[in-house]
Amino acid sequence: MLAGQPIIILKANVERNYGKEAQRSNITAAKAIAGAVRTTLGPRGMDKMLVGSTGDIVITNDGATILQEISVQHPGAKMVIEVAKTQDNEVGDGTTTAVVLVGALMEQAENLLEWGIHPTVISAGYRLGMEKSLEIVDGLALKVESTDKKTLGKICDTAITGKSVEAVKSKLCGIIVNAVSAVAEKVGGKITIDEDDVMVKKKRGHAMDDIELIHGVVIDKKRVHEGMPRKVTKAKIALIGTPLEITKTQVKAKIKISTAEQVAAFNEQESEALKKLADYVIGTGANVLLCQKGIADPVQFHLAKAGVLAVEDVPEKDMQYAAKAVSANIVQKAENLAAKDLGGAETVEEDNDIDIVRIGGCKNPKAITILLRGSTDYLLDELERAVNDGKRVVMDAMEDGTFVVGGGAVETELLMKIKDYAASVGGRIQLALEAYAAAFETIPRTLAENSGYNPIDKLVDLKNAHAKGEKNAGLNVYTGDIIDMYAEGVFEPLRSKRQSIQSASETAAMLIRVDDMMITQQNKPAGMPGAPMG
Ligand SMILES: Nc1ncnc2c1ncn2[C@@H]1O[C@H](COP(=O)(O)OP(=O)(O)O)[C@@H](O)[C@H]1O
Ligand SMILES: [Mg+2]
Repeated sequence: MLAGQPIIILKANVERNYGKEAQRSNITAAKAIAGAVRTTLGPRGMDKMLVGSTGDIVITNDGATILQEISVQHPGAKMVIEVAKTQDNEVGDGTTTAVVLVGALMEQAENLLEWGIHPTVISAGYRLGMEKSLEIVDGLALKVESTDKKTLGKICDTAITGKSVEAVKSKLCGIIVNAVSAVAEKVGGKITIDEDDVMVKKKRGHAMDDIELIHGVVIDKKRVHEGMPRKVTKAKIALIGTPLEITKTQVKAKIKISTAEQVAAFNEQESEALKKLADYVIGTGANVLLCQKGIADPVQFHLAKAGVLAVEDVPEKDMQYAAKAVSANIVQKAENLAAKDLGGAETVEEDNDIDIVRIGGCKNPKAITILLRGSTDYLLDELERAVNDGKRVVMDAMEDGTFVVGGGAVETELLMKIKDYAASVGGRIQLALEAYAAAFETIPRTLAENSGYNPIDKLVDLKNAHAKGEKNAGLNVYTGDIIDMYAEGVFEPLRSKRQSIQSASETAAMLIRVDDMMITQQNKPAGMPGAPMG
């Protein structure tokens, strides 16, 4: 106050929220986001139906997808969603786990705050707990060779269980493991995999078990002209990025045509130009053409006459993938095409049943396509998400050479070990560590709940098994029994567990320390004091 006048620092449109209110607001937000996805956790989790603002429908069990589709305003909630995004980017699986874990950590923090434990102590305890947890999971990690397709298949299987793809799961996993293995590269004893080397294509219309692994490229189009060969062997492939037609601006339309001769002359000129376009391609020795844009009818005719198999309107992504696969250059203008720009493949062939063109025996053997079939787009989309998850976990496990067992075994081990560790630390931080340990209960608990079992009973059984030294004891979500998850083959990449622990802990530790939120009006979340209702 200055001479009785308040000093105004913040603009009038800035909403301020501090102390307990800010903390509570973030805790509530984190719990709400976790609550939105927790029923999808595990193989017996339920799906969610999301309807976008444009009316498009997504049915999914995938945490990352759900959170991506719902729009939230609360800054704390946004940070929790970031956890899911990071998990998805870094690992490709374990998003629900990570988010449910942040929710539990924040819920535990709520109790600690009520007991009067300072946020910085909670935050420090959580960080310490995280370090200890990472150490413990590293100790639980098992090794997998990149050639061990059986174990990799199980890792894939665990990741895609519960995603409405049960009927084709084992076939799908076989295909995914083979696909990833085919593109894996060993450099200096280290395996690296470029995710983009495996292309996933969807084609509506057939049963799901028609999924196919194709060593090569699939273009989701037919050849442009019936007169073109359906199959070309020893293919020399040209890739052109612009239309093979004469655009209005190319023919200066200023000429005034008044006689029949002039019309004929003009037409002749135009058809000459079009023939030339075809000749540029034919002249290089190409017998296959992929064009990113349209091909004019007369050009198609000339290409067909010369025995060239041409496809038009090829999406840019496919052009680029094909260019890499057949080692071709994408040339923008037909007149600039040269023999050195052409790529090579054993065969290029239009399928007899489905409208696709396959390019097989590519120069670059690291071109692998997984072709998905399904009766509806919703199904195909969920199938694609499953393949993407499966692909990523197999990559993670191959690159790192490590995995852990699932079914809540790791989390049970963590919650018990960290509780023991907390006792050795003492002081107030011990309470924070105990709370941190207790947060891990949420995973086996939720798995039990989602499978229809009593979560308290199952937790007790799990703890008893682990107390007897059964490190791999987890919940069989189909029978409710506590079983050895190693024997059951429920495997997850170590990277997934590490990442979910890390990002959940760091986010919780960060959110707890926030005791002042200044939100400029237009971004103010609904439900906060002063915000418009509804
Ligand atoms: N067959 C199984 N039996 C028991 N638990 C399983 C099984 N398959 C997967 N899980 C567990 O389900 C959890 C993953 O569920 P999921 O819905 O895929 O969520 P996330 O998005 O975290 O990957 C993990 O804890 C995993 O160990
Ligand atoms: Mg998963």
